[in-house]
Amino acid sequence: MDWGMKNRLARIIKPDTGRTVMLAVDHGYFLGPITKLEDPRKTIEPLLPYADAIMLTRGVLRSSVDPNTSTPIVLRVSGGQSIIGPSLANEEIITCMKEAVRLNVAAVAFSIYIGTEYEHQTLINLSKLIDEGEEYGIPVLAVTAVGKELEKRDARFLSLACRIAAELGAKFIKTYYCENFEKVVNSCPVPLVIAGGPKLETERDVFQLTYDAIQKGAVGVDMGRNIWQSDHPIAMIQAIRHIVHKNASVKEAEDLFNSLKTK
Ligand code: R5P
Repeated sequence: MDWGMKNRLARIIKPDTGRTVMLAVDHGYFLGPITKLEDPRKTIEPLLPYADAIMLTRGVLRSSVDPNTSTPIVLRVSGGQSIIGPSLANEEIITCMKEAVRLNVAAVAFSIYIGTEYEHQTLINLSKLIDEGEEYGIPVLAVTAVGKELEKRDARFLSLACRIAAELGAKFIKTYYCENFEKVVNSCPVPLVIAGGPKLETERDVFQLTYDAIQKGAVGVDMGRNIWQSDHPIAMIQAIRHIVHKNASVKEAEDLFNSLKTK
């Protein structure tokens, strides 16, 4: 890997632990102003110091993030559809690599929709983006999206999707945690981070999800709703960092969360 590519990846996946806590706030690109992300700046600003990287679109980056930040940016560059449109899978490249360079991003993120009628389109666009990323030294994060078909989140499907993304040249991949997650990790030659998904019932569920993913080989999380839809988002992200970077147990994360939420 070239120096620039390695350096950008090292800004996201911290070399001292080999792990990362990415904060996902890109949801508006197809969901609009979802709960607790109505005013992105209000949500993002207090969490920024605790995130190893932040994943968002160029619109929210320019409008809602202070350019003096040192938090690395992972720029969402796929989209073009909406939650009420005909297909969530019909994504194209919405932001070019030149713009990503202009915004000084550490990586770009692109969703692929394996098993849908847009499989070919999204895989070819991922490949084009990777070619450009190689040219500029910008890593591409592939997101193994499932759209509304949540039942697809099993090890068989996710192994297939992650492996294809790695074969096409994605430098790291965002996927879902699932039963037998180690199968997904072991058949994927590049690092995996997990999404949090919709808000879980308890904080303990989120810590358990994070703990299990790390134990089974994920290098971290790219988490959104389970952090910023919490009543105590700052305590939440710190407790998750405790698991990801310090190998804390679920109980230790919970204890930290309880001690911080009262402050
Ligand atoms: C999916 O690609 C979305 O854009 C989010 O980035 C992703 O789902 C992670 O956020 P959450 O933890 O809320 O699922």
